[in-house]
Amino acid sequence: METPLRNDISQRLQAIKSLQTQPAVIAKISQMLQNPATNADELGYAIRTDQVLASTVLKLVNSAFYGFPGKIGSISHAIVLLGFSTVKNIVLTASVHEMFKMNTDADTGSFNAPSFWEHSLACGVAAQCLAQVVGYDNKEECFVAGLLHDIGKVVLFQVAPDEFTRVIDCTNKTRTLFYDSECKLLGINHQEVGGMLIEQWRLPPQILNAVSYHHTPASITEGDSRLASIVHCADIFARALGYGNGGDSKIPMINDNVWDSLKLDSVDLLRLFDCMETEWQKAGAYFQLV
Ligand SMILES: [Fe+2]
Ligand SMILES: [Fe+2]
Repeated sequence: METPLRNDISQRLQAIKSLQTQPAVIAKISQMLQNPATNADELGYAIRTDQVLASTVLKLVNSAFYGFPGKIGSISHAIVLLGFSTVKNIVLTASVHEMFKMNTDADTGSFNAPSFWEHSLACGVAAQCLAQVVGYDNKEECFVAGLLHDIGKVVLFQVAPDEFTRVIDCTNKTRTLFYDSECKLLGINHQEVGGMLIEQWRLPPQILNAVSYHHTPASITEGDSRLASIVHCADIFARALGYGNGGDSKIPMINDNVWDSLKLDSVDLLRLFDCMETEWQKAGAYFQLV
């Protein structure tokens, strides 16, 4: 749907500088990780060029989440111990956290940064646990996709704060979904906006699909929809179990096709909730970042 406001927001998205500086580091690191010739020293050097990023990465690497008994003192050592893909996910998490920090003064009714970060982390944890239960082989990718699923809200808050506040007000007044209010009022929504950011960051296509379709997983026509299905459910489980707040308090229904495709029985659900409880404890280090 083309509306003047939608075009205006898209233009503001393209113009904003702070969104371009952060992805530059991520895009560079992403590219290095796709090159098989990249070694741990080179990658460590690239991460160290951003001091805040480097210290956050080290803090996370040493947290209970990764469970290493000894202290890991350097980024290169972390890469050797954890592997490239884990370090890439940590770099992404640290970068996303930087974006959240830019918005810590965000407190508009039911939208405040710590609750929002908690909701995002819980969705990451739920997605990671769902991956384990349904046998999706890349747990970490699920964590990152869950963590990033609502990143479009952070971007909208940054580029269109007045419109964002109107959406929050409407959501609270009508007790509806944030997604429904923004579609109605803005003609653009946070999954589309999040998708634009993920494209800029040049993340893998399955993460792009998961972020761009987490409210409408049945509309995926191209590429793998499995990760999007997992994130769609993870978002709803995080809401239903009361972890944080993503800007609305309504719990949507899980899409029927998605539910059927995941084939979860009652034993799976118990395993999922157990896993979420355990992993949530370990994710404390991430939660303390805000
Ligand atoms: Fe969402
Ligand atoms: Fe969400």
